[in-house]
Amino acid sequence: MEGVIMKKIGYCVAGLGVGKNHVAVAAANPNVRYLAICDIDEGRLGAVGEQYPQAVRYNTFEEMLKDPEIDIVSIALPSGIHAEYAVKALEAGKHILCEKPIDITVGKALTIEEARIRTGKKVGVIFQNRNNPVMREAKKAVEAGAIGKLILGTFSVKWYRDQPYYDAGGWRGTWAMDGGGSLMNQAVHTVDLMQWLMGDVESVQGLYTIANHKIETEDLTASIIRFKNGAVATFVSTTCCNPSRGTFVQVYGSDGCIELNGDKVDEWKVKGITPEEENEIKEKYAKGSAAAVQADPTLVIGHASQVNDMIDAVIHDRDPQIGPMEAIKAVRIINAVYESSRTGKIIRFD
Ligand SMILES: NC(=O)c1ccc[n+]([C@@H]2O[C@H](COP(=O)([O-])OP(=O)(O)OC[C@H]3O[C@@H](n4cnc5c(N)ncnc54)[C@H](O)[C@@H]3O)[C@@H](O)[C@H]2O)c1
Repeated sequence: MEGVIMKKIGYCVAGLGVGKNHVAVAAANPNVRYLAICDIDEGRLGAVGEQYPQAVRYNTFEEMLKDPEIDIVSIALPSGIHAEYAVKALEAGKHILCEKPIDITVGKALTIEEARIRTGKKVGVIFQNRNNPVMREAKKAVEAGAIGKLILGTFSVKWYRDQPYYDAGGWRGTWAMDGGGSLMNQAVHTVDLMQWLMGDVESVQGLYTIANHKIETEDLTASIIRFKNGAVATFVSTTCCNPSRGTFVQVYGSDGCIELNGDKVDEWKVKGITPEEENEIKEKYAKGSAAAVQADPTLVIGHASQVNDMIDAVIHDRDPQIGPMEAIKAVRIINAVYESSRTGKIIRFD
């Protein structure tokens, strides 16, 4: 805005695996005046540091927190330590943007919400797939009642991860640090999309198994979810589908349906639009979000949508797009699938 002095942000990314995406966005944001990176792995710290020579490097989280130039910390650490490090950062006076899942249990995730309230700092949580342009359109259509009364959702995440993926990560496929397997790690995005599109959950019935990897947790789950609005969904997740077949989000109502294969439209039958408009949507997203963004550069996707949103939220003193209580919903559903499988019971939500 002309004539208004905008606050400039100090941004640090902790954890330089997927955290590299956060670094790239923060480095390109004109409101970031100070960039820092943090990882205990010197190799990763060095490699990312070479790419972003302006970034101040920290090899311990605690030292980084003492840096008064840093306003926001991205927590891109292994899932099972998100809450521990997020709370430390909040108590050191930093705002945080936490990778998905917010943590691996509802109890630990709630400690972030408590720290957010205690410190008055801002907390954003990454679920970048909500910002895929076609997903936003789907949400808008479902919310407006364009497919009528919600009846059924079928969701499946049919991916492949080889054994070296689990062997290399150390924390992956462990209960303590990954909190699960295909459902908690890979499919958590789609669990979030399911509850976002279909509404509050009433009950969960599920099973998990280890079908084809040497891991501690699971590489396959199947569940049935009933929603408070009466709709039902099935959800399948696996990392055993060789080759990977992708992610399918399919929502059926009394008057229409939306079927998405990743970010491409398979079917789009909704009330209130002409067959020509239906075809327009199908064509616009026929080649996925990247092509849609190329055609319309005002659309922002991926990590950029949420890292930039977080920076803007701090500058303008507003809430980030997705807060802890919203992000906790997926963790609760996933843990209910695991609990149902262990106990053989239907898990009912209050
Ligand atoms: N949004 C997405 O699409 C997406 C994609 C991949 C991963 N993730 C999430 O991001 C998180 C990280 O996943 P990843 O695949 O990048 O894992 P990773 O193991 O590749 O990276 C984690 C990094 O954290 C570092 N680290 C561990 N403990 C640390 C500490 N105490 N202080 C500083 N650094 C520390 C490790 O050295 C490592 O470099 C997970 O929660 C995962 O679920 C999200």
